[in-house]
Amino acid sequence: MNGILPIVAADAQASPPSPDAQGWLTLGPLAEVFGDRACRSLKLGGVQVGMFLVDGEVYAIDDICSHGNARLSEGEIDGFEVECPLHAGLFDIRSGKALSAPLTRDVRSHEIRLEEGVLYLRLVAS
Ligand code: FES
Repeated sequence: MNGILPIVAADAQASPPSPDAQGWLTLGPLAEVFGDRACRSLKLGGVQVGMFLVDGEVYAIDDICSHGNARLSEGEIDGFEVECPLHAGLFDIRSGKALSAPLTRDVRSHEIRLEEGVLYLRLVAS
């Protein structure tokens, strides 16, 4: 397919942040979180989260595929779609919606806030 960008898998964060009273986790400056990568994979509050930077906007979804044990952050992105590296199921990065077979279940989409260049994330409950 045209326009597919390779995603560089990222390491888990060494020291996970603690949430504030509203549940927001401070991840740090956008440029430091992503560097020159299009995505990051972070373990936050016991959840492996895949974060994707598309056209200057950040989106966060569960990183583990709803179909099997694969990290979506190790797949390929094409626009707002990420392709699971194991069986090529497609998810919408913006919503976590499953878009193609063999997927039958969505993944969760987590809340992102960007304030003065600093990135915050709030995990959505199961
Ligand atoms: S593990 Fe992701 S599509 Fe099968």
